[in-house]
Amino acid sequence: MTDTQRADHGAAGAGPGLQPGAQPHPTFRDLYGREAECGGVAPGRVNLIGEHTDYNGGFVLPTVIPQRTTVELAVRDDRVVRAWSANIHEPPAEYHLGSEARRGAWIDYVQAVTWVLPEAGHALCGADIRISSSVPLGGGLSSSAALEMALLRAFRAAFGLQIDDVPLAKLGQRAENEFVGAPCGIMDQMACSLAEDRVALFLDTRTLAFDRVPLPPGVDLVVINSGVSHRVAGGDYATRRRECEEAAHMLGAPQLRDVPAASLEQRIESLPDTLRRRVRHVVTEDQRVVDAVEAMRARDVARLGELFYASHASMRDDYQVSIPEIDLLVDLARKDPRVHGARLTGGGFGGSIVALVRAATGRDVGERVAREYHARSGRTATVLVPPALGA
Ligand code: GLA
Repeated sequence: MTDTQRADHGAAGAGPGLQPGAQPHPTFRDLYGREAECGGVAPGRVNLIGEHTDYNGGFVLPTVIPQRTTVELAVRDDRVVRAWSANIHEPPAEYHLGSEARRGAWIDYVQAVTWVLPEAGHALCGADIRISSSVPLGGGLSSSAALEMALLRAFRAAFGLQIDDVPLAKLGQRAENEFVGAPCGIMDQMACSLAEDRVALFLDTRTLAFDRVPLPPGVDLVVINSGVSHRVAGGDYATRRRECEEAAHMLGAPQLRDVPAASLEQRIESLPDTLRRRVRHVVTEDQRVVDAVEAMRARDVARLGELFYASHASMRDDYQVSIPEIDLLVDLARKDPRVHGARLTGGGFGGSIVALVRAATGRDVGERVAREYHARSGRTATVLVPPALGA
């Protein structure tokens, strides 16, 4: 992943999903009559385990997926920003620096970034921007964070900004929380900024200390998008977040991270049923992240797989963020002897599952699960990882 990638008008420029015979997407030169000067790239992420723990000060274990968001950029000598996205079939959107205002559209992510950088003391001038992405929108795989981080990297390169990867991730989260209005935690931006292929980022979201933990040999990851769109800006995510804050307050803890796992049932017995469930999920999920890291280090794939299933059950029954389509995907995966474990990944209410499978069987497992899913639900699932040959 490079920061100052020259604009590339090849396969990435054509964008994913372009139908044979369809018009190729316009290049940077087509759009703006000149070449891009620099750019930024950031991957989507898949969280292996540790869901809804980040805004509770807990642990997460994400890694990256091969799908990426690419931003090409050329600086302007005025204060106009023009941005175009290959994923949206519209002419470039335009605004003036300093007049950013939320429109409830994709351009808000660009506005959020040009709003947050000056807020943090980094002077900018205008820019022409071209965005293309193969990270699916609404797949629970951080298309938003990938876009924020690719944009931030492009601006960092264009204006020579002295911002390291961790503060850059924090700026991405601030842009999303305060400008876009999605109350996400820090996991996605940290993963898109720092994680690597086949290496998970074991992150303490309170201190932002992290360790890199390689996937054990002999296993592959499979990521399957259910085709049901996930949205963090939707009300359910914010409701969960509020419930956690309320429960922590009732338990006299600064955050749920601070609630000990020992004698948990006794500690939470006075809470209303819903809050009891939320606490149970968060506290046990934090422990599962620690256990998963231990299992990965010990190359104990069976144990890691069990933790995936336990995490899924907890998200489904206690945190109540799964949906029948996602449960179906997990159940279909579980029936395959090549699968060690599977779970809902990301915020939930749609999105994707991640499965841990025997090495070199990923594509086959994924396609079988997707076929049965279609037969049972009528919906089309997409196997995103491993990518199809030639994709
Ligand atoms: C979304 C948010 C993250 C995290 C996950 C759930 O992806 O953006 O911050 O809370 O949901 O683990």
